[in-house]
Amino acid sequence: MTATKAAAPAFDVRAVRAEFPILARKVNGRPLVYLDNAASAQKPNCVINGLRDFYANEYANIHRAVHELSQQATERYENARRTVQRFLNAADGREIVFTRGTTESINLVMQSWGRANVKAGDEVVITGLEHHSNIVPWQMLCEEKGAKLKVAAINDAGEVPFEEFERLLTPRVKLAAFSHVSNALGTINPVAPMTAACKQRGIVTVIDGAQAVPHLAVDVQALGCDFYAFSGHKVYGPSGVGALYGRAEVLEKMPPWQGGGDMIRSVTFEKTEYADIPARFEAGTPSIADGIALGLALEYVLGVGLDRIAAHEHELLLYGTNKLSEIPGLRILGTAHEKAGVISFVLDRIHATDAAMILDQFGIAVRTGHHCAQPVMDRFKVAATARASFAMYNTKEEIDALAEGLQKVRRMFA
Ligand code: ALA
Repeated sequence: MTATKAAAPAFDVRAVRAEFPILARKVNGRPLVYLDNAASAQKPNCVINGLRDFYANEYANIHRAVHELSQQATERYENARRTVQRFLNAADGREIVFTRGTTESINLVMQSWGRANVKAGDEVVITGLEHHSNIVPWQMLCEEKGAKLKVAAINDAGEVPFEEFERLLTPRVKLAAFSHVSNALGTINPVAPMTAACKQRGIVTVIDGAQAVPHLAVDVQALGCDFYAFSGHKVYGPSGVGALYGRAEVLEKMPPWQGGGDMIRSVTFEKTEYADIPARFEAGTPSIADGIALGLALEYVLGVGLDRIAAHEHELLLYGTNKLSEIPGLRILGTAHEKAGVISFVLDRIHATDAAMILDQFGIAVRTGHHCAQPVMDRFKVAATARASFAMYNTKEEIDALAEGLQKVRRMFA
């Protein structure tokens, strides 16, 4: 792990916490300690109130009518698209496609770009760190097309060595898909050199950014990737909405993946002309309020500052790693040099789920299981881990509560 980045301006975690009403509640009679942020983050007031206000005062369908409410709703939705553009530093708002989340974004690329471009004998590269949503769609594509799926193996620290990834980039590879940050271990992949290596060889790149965007600043132009996917609910926005960044040059050549209203220029029974990007990929009435609230969540994150969030979470990671390492019989999986705020661990002779159920009695929420990343569990020869994952509102006191809870768990099983 690298040292804490120096000279970040003061970060007021109390002020941040005050914006998240759920953090004031109790669970099982104890103050909530919410450490399941990699599964989904809690929502700030601006998102909660924004959703309510939109439905109470402004709701209408978008892109369809001349009446005032529809015009205003359209403007707010398109404004949210511009916020996503700014959040990812995309060059053009047309490069932002609203989806239901990362999974849908990746499936969109698979079904549209993948089906049009991957042929029998071609290869697709992923890494051993991927979430199922960045494995299964590519398996489906390879099966359908007679292409081959190749996996860059991870080392004992839970890193994808760059040379291992690069070694797989043969002339047959059409597409490489890799996570920016691992949900199961927290590893930050070296996505810039990985993308550059693919670009040099004309390989299309898809980055799963679901676990990255809440924690670090992303610049898709600097990365030079073709696609970047993320979900709203992990970055303090509503569930059911997310986005796909696609480089305009690539998106423009892609066929639609779903047919319906709003994605067409004209329809007759003989022929349909499709709309330009991004509408071509957004069939049907979208999750309008959620898209607008995603914009509010991203504005909030930008306002707090991703550099400050990253510095705060890095401190939590260092503190938590030290604290949990002191617990006898606890082993941390994933010790990458570059890590986001995730600590995955197993306990000697205690099942992760038993530990999590006891922690829950103390109001502490962690996730257990395979984290939708079964190959990662297989790599470390465990069926499941317990995972504490941090957000901008977590504190060292909460990590102390986790460590204390785990000591109690250990004593119960002694
Ligand atoms: N992908 C989410 C997680 O890691 C659900 O928990």
